[in-house]
Amino acid sequence: MSFAKHGRASSTRGVKNLNIVVVSPEKFGNTAADIVQRVTENTEAPNITFPTGDSPLPLYRELVNRYQHGKLSLANVQAFGLDEWGELEPGHPIRCISRMKTQLYSETDIPVEQIYYLEPNTDDLDVHCEAYDKRIADMGGLTLSILGIGINGHIGFNEPGSKATVRTRKIQLADRTLNVSQKYGFDKTPSWGVTLGLATLLESKEILILATGAHKAEIVHLTVNGPETSDVPSSLMRRHPNCTLLLDEAAAQLLKK
Ligand code: F6R
Repeated sequence: MSFAKHGRASSTRGVKNLNIVVVSPEKFGNTAADIVQRVTENTEAPNITFPTGDSPLPLYRELVNRYQHGKLSLANVQAFGLDEWGELEPGHPIRCISRMKTQLYSETDIPVEQIYYLEPNTDDLDVHCEAYDKRIADMGGLTLSILGIGINGHIGFNEPGSKATVRTRKIQLADRTLNVSQKYGFDKTPSWGVTLGLATLLESKEILILATGAHKAEIVHLTVNGPETSDVPSSLMRRHPNCTLLLDEAAAQLLKK
């Protein structure tokens, strides 16, 4: 594997199918938005998962910017929330759906009736999760899964130990996830969440994984070069035939040049 370090995107095929793209922080949002725009323009009604967290923020800023300048429409997008915290009441500002509305949905032309999300406060959560997967399947499966990586390798809230065969479900959050999530300013950090399962994500036509910053360098290295194992769920994404790992230079620093 090799990659060049420069201002433009450099791309290489890593372990198995991973398409590794390294860009400067300034180009990160633009490069990710190009991928999303290509999918939205080439697909009649793309089903797209949207993660929260820091990694997708440059992407969301760029999508909003393009929409505001009349260069992009997301009107045909069917938007699926990737995961959600348990124990927070509907409308809580830290909820993933609340942040997605603020950062992207309400700032673009995605119709509200095309926005789907996981609702943890449901009488029968198993039934709700099954219905979420079924809705995706009935709509033709995911077109593009946009994902971040937790420092422990989690994908969505598929924490270490999650197998490639798991579907949407309730999950106990790992200690490292709970520590990192202090950045959201919880009064009391939820101990569990709900997440789209790895199997549903791996069935997506295309996957885009975003990682930025030096604190992600170690897990990016393990994702690319470590063993393919459910101990590091992000490593399981390598088996997907059309997966791009978009990194800034800091996140890519431990990959072999
Ligand atoms: C959030 C999510 C998580 C994050 C991951 C990285 O909806 O699914 O898997 O993508 O924890 O978070 P950031 O981007 O904040 O480093």
